[in-house]
Amino acid sequence: MRRTGQEKTVACVILAGGLGKRMKSPTPKVLYRLLGKPMISYALESALALAPGKILIVTGKNDAPIKETLQPACKAAKGKIGFARQSKPLGTAHALQCAVKSLGGFEGSLVVLNGDSPLLTPKNIKTLLRNHRRDGNALSVCSFAAESPGSYGRILRDAEGTPMGIVEKTDLARNTTNVREVNSGLYVFEPPALKLLTKIRLNPKKREYYLTDILGIARRHGLKAGVYCAPAPEDFLGVNSHAELRQAESVLRKRLVEGLSAKGVRFIEPGLVFMEAGVIIAPGATIYPNVHLQGGTRVAKGCTIYPNTRIIDSILMEGAIVKDFSVLENSRIGKNAQIGPFARLRPGSVVKAMARVGNFVEIKNSTVGEGSKAMHLSYIGDSFVGKGVNIGAGTITCNYDGLKKNKTVIEDGVFIGSDSQLIAPVRIKKGSYVAAGSTICTDVPAEALAISRVPQKNIKGWAGKRLRIKGKKKKTSGSNKK
Ligand code: UD1
Ligand code: CA
Repeated sequence: MRRTGQEKTVACVILAGGLGKRMKSPTPKVLYRLLGKPMISYALESALALAPGKILIVTGKNDAPIKETLQPACKAAKGKIGFARQSKPLGTAHALQCAVKSLGGFEGSLVVLNGDSPLLTPKNIKTLLRNHRRDGNALSVCSFAAESPGSYGRILRDAEGTPMGIVEKTDLARNTTNVREVNSGLYVFEPPALKLLTKIRLNPKKREYYLTDILGIARRHGLKAGVYCAPAPEDFLGVNSHAELRQAESVLRKRLVEGLSAKGVRFIEPGLVFMEAGVIIAPGATIYPNVHLQGGTRVAKGCTIYPNTRIIDSILMEGAIVKDFSVLENSRIGKNAQIGPFARLRPGSVVKAMARVGNFVEIKNSTVGEGSKAMHLSYIGDSFVGKGVNIGAGTITCNYDGLKKNKTVIEDGVFIGSDSQLIAPVRIKKGSYVAAGSTICTDVPAEALAISRVPQKNIKGWAGKRLRIKGKKKKTSGSNKK
C-alpha cells in the first residue's frame, strides 16, 4: 500500500452508535441501503479517501450487524478500520469519547463525522482539513446554510461573526430561532480540544452528552476554533427519517445518472432510472425509463435497455438489447444478442452473441449458443444449447425428475419443432430435427428426425353423425315433455 503523510497525522471517527429512533424500525439506521449500498459505507468510503492512519466506527446496540455488513470493507482495508463500542447511547460526545479511548495516545488531527450523512464527499472533508490547518485551529466545525434548519444544531455567532457555540433545536432561545447556519456534524479535533470532551455536561432535556457543546467550551478555554460554512448544503443532509432517506437516495441517484450522462450514456428519462452504486454503464448505451439495474451489472457500449426491466448482477456485452418487461439475474448476454420482451433469465444463464430469446421464455443455468433462437413460450433449464439452434414455441426441457436436476444437450444446428418436451437427461445431436409435438426420452442421433406422436386418425363423416345423434336426442327429450 502506498503510504501518504496523512496516515500518521490523520485519524477518523464515524459516529454510528445511535438508536435511530426516528426511523421507527428495527433495522439499524446506518444499515439502510441507498442505491443498494448501506448508509454507513458512504461515510466509510469518504473517510477512506482521506487515507488516514486509522478509522474507528462507533457502534452501539447495532454492533453485530454493522460489523458483519462491513466485513469485506474491513478486510480490504487491511486492519485500518476498527470499532469502538458505546455500551449505552448517551449522546454524540459520549460516542466520540468511546472512540478516543480506543485511539490510545493518538497525537494527530482527528476527523469526526456522522454515520448518517451519506451525501458527504471526500472533498467536503478535505476542504475542512485545509481550512483547519491553514488557521492553526484546535477545533474546526463544518457548517452549511440550511433552507429549513429543522433539527440541525444552530451555529451562534457574535456581532463580529465569531462562532460562539452550537445550540441544538430543543435548547434554542426564542430570539435565535431564525438562524439558518447549521452544524453538519463534521469536525476536526486536535488533542487539546479532545481533552475538553470530559467538560461536556449531560443535557438535562435529552439526557445525552452533546458533542456540539465542545465549540463553546473550546472557546471558553481559549482554544482556537473555527466554523466554516460549506458552499453545497445538499452534501450534508443528515438522515433521521424515511423521508430524509428517500431524499438522500434521490440525490445519490441523480449524481450517478448525471455523472454517466456526462460520460456519454443516453438516458431517455434520467429521473426514472433506478441504478445501484456498483453498476457500470459504458458510453453509448441507451437506457429507457423504469429500468432497474442492480448489484454488479455491467452494460457495454451500444446496448439498449427498454422500459420496465430489472437486471441484477448481469453482464451485457456490446450491442445487446433487452426489451420491455424482462428480468435478468446473474446472467451473461453476448454481443448483439436480444432478450425479451417478457423474458426471464434466472441465475447461470449465458446467451451468446447474436442469440435471441423472445417472449415468455424462461432460462435457468443454461447456455444458449451463438445465433440460436428461442422466441416463444419455452423453458430451458440446466441445458446446453449449441450454435444456430432453433427452439420452437412451447418447447420444454423437463429437467427435474422429482429428485434431481438433469441436463439437456442440444447440439449445433438442431431444429426443435414447437410444443416438444425434451425429457432430461437427453442429448439431441448435431443437425438433427425433432418433429413438432414430440416427447423425446432418448438421445437423437446426428442429422436424424425424431418424431414421437400418436399417429393421427381421421374419422370420415364424424361431424355429421354427431349432429344427427344430437338431433335425435333433442326430439326424444321434447316428446317426453308433452
Ligand atoms: C447531530 C448534531 C447536530 C447536527 C446534525 C447533523 C449533536 C448533539 N447534534 O444531530 O448539531 O446538526 O447531527 O446531521 O451531535 N450517535 C452515536 N451515539 C449516540 C448518539 C448518536 O454514535 O449516543 C451517532 C448516530 O448513530 C449518528 C450520529 O451520531 O450517526 C448523529 O446522531 P443523531 O442522533 O442523528 O444526531 P442529530 O440529531 O442528527
Ligand atoms: Ca442525524
